[in-house]
Amino acid sequence: MDRLIIRGGVPLRGKVEAGGAKNAALPALVASLLTEESIRLHRVPQLGDVKTIIGLLDHLGVSVERGDRDTLSLRADGIGQCEAPYHLVKTMRASVLVLGPLAARFGRARVSLPGGCAIGPRPINLHLAALEKMGATISLDGGYVEAKAPRLRGARITFDGQTVTGTENVMMAATLADGVTVLENAACEPEVADLAALLNRMGARIEGAGTPTISIEGVQHLHGAEHEVIPDRVETGTFMVAAAMTGGDVTINRCLPGHLEAITEKLRETGVFVEETDSSIRVWGDGQVQGVNIRTHPYPGFATDMQAQFMALLSIAQGSSVITETVFENRFMHVNELLRMGADIKVIGTTAFVHGVPMLSGAPVMATDLRASASLVLAGLAAKGTTTVSRVYHLDRGYESIERKLQSLGAGIERVTE
Ligand code: EPZ
Repeated sequence: MDRLIIRGGVPLRGKVEAGGAKNAALPALVASLLTEESIRLHRVPQLGDVKTIIGLLDHLGVSVERGDRDTLSLRADGIGQCEAPYHLVKTMRASVLVLGPLAARFGRARVSLPGGCAIGPRPINLHLAALEKMGATISLDGGYVEAKAPRLRGARITFDGQTVTGTENVMMAATLADGVTVLENAACEPEVADLAALLNRMGARIEGAGTPTISIEGVQHLHGAEHEVIPDRVETGTFMVAAAMTGGDVTINRCLPGHLEAITEKLRETGVFVEETDSSIRVWGDGQVQGVNIRTHPYPGFATDMQAQFMALLSIAQGSSVITETVFENRFMHVNELLRMGADIKVIGTTAFVHGVPMLSGAPVMATDLRASASLVLAGLAAKGTTTVSRVYHLDRGYESIERKLQSLGAGIERVTE
């Protein structure tokens, strides 16, 4: 297993480019199941999770060809079966996204229940309730969920809670349903809107994506399309925090600042400088930041996917901070590892009380989930001494060659493959 060795204390300086968004690429790849024609996607990042979903699509019979660096062409004209097996789904919950498209196009789907993960049980009840309302017969059998429907029909669905992949799953299913589907309390994340943009290019009739109310008029079939995935707002935010923590000066190019307003506002509140253009964000400071309070919230609120990274920053802020995680039940796995680096953090339920310390100390630490591992890398960049982050496969699920990007900014970081 790979490890990252980080020698802290170097202010990061220079320019880096945001990659395509993992959480937009995953549903976009799955959307290929909705047509027998070819889908061509640009700016697909080379990530562990992308490899996993490609493996699942290949298992289902989708032909996948990687073009140049970040272009993929997919064609689902030879689907052999409609079952997503446990060994593929267990590694990544987003695999459940194939449920809606398979049920919509083939009338049946059998997908292993994803099971929980490090950050919480993460059920899919909201996905299933919505598909049932569209006429699917849902049954659970041996750890698998089966959805059967001769043809899904449009329905009015109010989600009982905001779910990003639930919204995406049902939106994809509704594109081929008979009639109009209206989703209320839909997720508003930019990745939902990006998926809708691709689906509309494929001939779908979707309005309101990116707002809490989405309407989808079902059509008989969808055709091929070409689409560029939006930039990754969480990768962008992670590099913004890296600049703030090390007292550096970093510009992230090819990003969409409008997708990071809550993060930018919070960073400015800590005393960090942030300057934006249409497609870039520059972050700089002297490394001294003030504590602030954070409450995660669905988009456009403060992203839960940025909570761990911000905690690393606040652990070396002047003063105290209160971080409340409202989206997931157990997204503080990074706390114990930060404590080993000298942070002063107390967790009570889903709230973390962070008292800033002048400096963290490098230490051997272990990644437990994707964003927790990013938080440990950030802490290592600012700490005195050397930090070794093990189980880096968690990080590779969502960051493409992060050490190369950080090296280009002057960081003392290298990957050791054991
Ligand atoms: C998406 O996960 C993202 N993943 C997550 O990013 C992100 O943290 C999350 O949305 C919240 O923004 C992808 O888009 C592939 P949810 P998702 O359904 O869709 C509960 C990362 O780091 N819930 O919005 O799985 C659920 O348990 C990953 O890139 C139900 O109870 O999240 C959670 O507490 C991590 N029943 C909350 O809702 C359901 O049927 C939000 O979950 C569905 C969800």
